[in-house]
Amino acid sequence: MLQFRTLSFIAALGVLAMVSMPANVATAEKRCKAQGQRVECPVQSDAALAAAEDAYEKEGDDMVAGKAGSTYGIAPFDYLTGVGKRTASTELTKGDSGYAGATGKTELWDRVGKPAEGESVYNQWTHNWSPKFKSTLVPGADPNEGKQWYYVYCITCHGWTLQGDGPAAINIDPRPRILTKGDYMNKKTNLELFTVIKGGGEAIDLSSSMPAWGNFLQDQDIWNVVAWIRANADVGPPKSIEDYLNPKSTFKPIADDVTALNAAKNDDFADAQELIEAVLAGRGTAALKGGGFVEGGLRKRATVVADKVGKGY
Ligand code: HEC
Repeated sequence: MLQFRTLSFIAALGVLAMVSMPANVATAEKRCKAQGQRVECPVQSDAALAAAEDAYEKEGDDMVAGKAGSTYGIAPFDYLTGVGKRTASTELTKGDSGYAGATGKTELWDRVGKPAEGESVYNQWTHNWSPKFKSTLVPGADPNEGKQWYYVYCITCHGWTLQGDGPAAINIDPRPRILTKGDYMNKKTNLELFTVIKGGGEAIDLSSSMPAWGNFLQDQDIWNVVAWIRANADVGPPKSIEDYLNPKSTFKPIADDVTALNAAKNDDFADAQELIEAVLAGRGTAALKGGGFVEGGLRKRATVVADKVGKGY
């Protein structure tokens, strides 16, 4: 781990920026690393990203025009995944969440029922219309909670189903990572994933077009996001609702890897955090202090998460 720590340190100081190559050259030269080996970064083609952006816009336009392209009220989902198209048999009435001036419900809607009184479409989405996990691949971290943060902060670039095809992806250079590519992602340690999410691309010698999230997310939130990413290893764009709701991950936990449960006692983790937090303006405030756990709301300690995930939801 010494090499990794040294790299993080140099990257945090911005020294590597002097020796790193321009993004376009670097992509061809394999900027990404998996187990120390340089490999080509897994990203979508420009054609795929242009199509994703068009689909997003089309769905938005359809909704405005009352064609009810998306009954979720979450514009891009139907087009980007093909899941959740309307069925002809059922009816959505004015006042229902997702009503867009036409009849019909979606298959997923039929499956889970209406939102509770006063509940937002967004909550319905994250709680009901997305995969739910009964186990975790990262001890002490809950993929169900990670998923919610992912939907808030990550989809614009990495896409609804982590395929690297969010509506903004075509405008980001280098392109956002496909987070489901197992032959790349499964070789990354939890510490590497945690570090890039908290400290941004520069913290692991990648580009700053991957922002740092440590000013927004507590450490436990980030662990939960890591668990969500692990739960989606090698999961492709869903072909059916079953596929979509029950992603099957190929990730096998890496021996001796740092986890949400043992992070507090791990020296590599402590070193990496110190360096990242030194350059995070929001850290050190009451909301996001140090080890990054503040009680309340959605947030639960790793030990509580471990207990809950073990028992199922
Ligand atoms: C503004 C667009 C954008 C947003 C939003 C974004 N990312 Fe990224 N992300 C990127 C880009 C671009 C890269 C690739 C950077 C590179 O290749 O240098 C990347 C890379 C990554 C990687 C892979 C790093 C590696 O080792 O190859 C992970 C993991 C990741 N992002 C997770 C997240 C998570 C989790 C979120 C939400 C909390 C998020 N990203 C939000 C743009 C974004």
